[in-house]
Amino acid sequence: MRTLTDVQLEGKVCLTRVDLNCPLDENLNLLDITRIKAHAETIKFISDRKGKVVVIAHQGRPGSSDFSSLKLHAESLGKILGAKYTVVFIAKTHGPEVENRIRKMKLGEILVLENVRMVENETKEKPATEHAQDIYIQSLAKVGDIFVNDAFSAAHRSHASLVGFTPLMPSVAGLIMAKEVQSLQRVVENPEKPCVFILGGIKPEDSFKVAEHVLTNDIADYILTGGAVSQILLVATGKSLGTPSMDFLKKKNLLKFIDIAKSQMDRFGGKIKFQSDFAINDGGRRIVTLKDLPLNFPILDIGNKTIEEFKEIIKKSSTCVLNGPMGKFEDEGFDVGTVEVFKAMEESKGFSLAGGGHSVSVLDKYQINLSYVSTAGGAMIQFLMGKPLPAIMALNS
Ligand code: ADP
Ligand code: 3PG
Ligand code: MG
Repeated sequence: MRTLTDVQLEGKVCLTRVDLNCPLDENLNLLDITRIKAHAETIKFISDRKGKVVVIAHQGRPGSSDFSSLKLHAESLGKILGAKYTVVFIAKTHGPEVENRIRKMKLGEILVLENVRMVENETKEKPATEHAQDIYIQSLAKVGDIFVNDAFSAAHRSHASLVGFTPLMPSVAGLIMAKEVQSLQRVVENPEKPCVFILGGIKPEDSFKVAEHVLTNDIADYILTGGAVSQILLVATGKSLGTPSMDFLKKKNLLKFIDIAKSQMDRFGGKIKFQSDFAINDGGRRIVTLKDLPLNFPILDIGNKTIEEFKEIIKKSSTCVLNGPMGKFEDEGFDVGTVEVFKAMEESKGFSLAGGGHSVSVLDKYQINLSYVSTAGGAMIQFLMGKPLPAIMALNS
């Protein structure tokens, strides 16, 4: 994959696709600007080398409640970059006016174009060569010299702005894209052993696909599970958890993964670990064991013995990857499992990596440092499943 250091940036218009998609409140204000801060580094890098940065990004999707303008994102980027850089928001995505404005760009100026998902054909899943014919792509390609793709967290989409410029101009990975790919390659291609994957949260379908890939290919030595993933595995052994937890799994439509869970346990046996004790909510955090189940209280976290068992394995690991929290960490007393597992990852001497919106928010809250924290959710999962990402394939072709 070619990167920013492989091209001459001076005087060049760099069409720079970043992922500024942020959580928003009901008034469409930005709740978390982690991604804007991350991509600011790439934008600064290009601007400092006298490249002219045209920022292309999305927020939400047409029809979703967080589908909004990028005006506030541009303001936030301006604040992060500071007075040395001039960030200008353009309320259009493409067309003759935008083309003329780009032609007139001054050095040090950074243009942020309006939400690219306002473009009609943006979100159609099509190959690069087809997207390259779009009016949108053709318009910006007229004035662009280099395409920089920094949007790793959107790289699982074959959308126009992510793949469409690559057949038309020199295309390189931005700093974040390069760092994400390098870090994820480190954990799925020949990881240092022992290698442990920790899978929690409420997306067992994804988690089981990751487990399948990393166990079949001898990437992971162990899978430690928490959250709904662990609960599905337990139900697959024939255990009833009690009405509140069973209702939760039903409501989330997760019981359909019991067969996959069974098949994985049959094939991978002791390599997949689930919790041996549980934190239930009977008015507060109370620890119970497997033989106490079923109980009429919800299971909201892994128990203290499980935490110790998981910590022992994590501390001995040379590679450790986490996606998805161990419990309902938003509720008081039930963040213990997730926080302790993360602390063990921080203390381990090996390479530690985590991703996923909810998981990463815990790291932030408790100021826990890992070797690498991904800005991605879906894209990271797809990478860990061993599935190629269209935007990366387009950059490499
Ligand atoms: P990520 O965003 O890190 O990929 P997920 O979105 O898959 O993770 O899962 C996060 C959600 O899972 C959180 O809202 C958390 O409350 C929930 N969760 C985890 N364990 C439990 C549990 N035992 N009961 C209810 N909710 C849980
Ligand atoms: C994300 O936030 O995961 C990316 O920006 C991709 O967004 P999408 O799921 O709406 O395509
Ligand atoms: Mg989540």
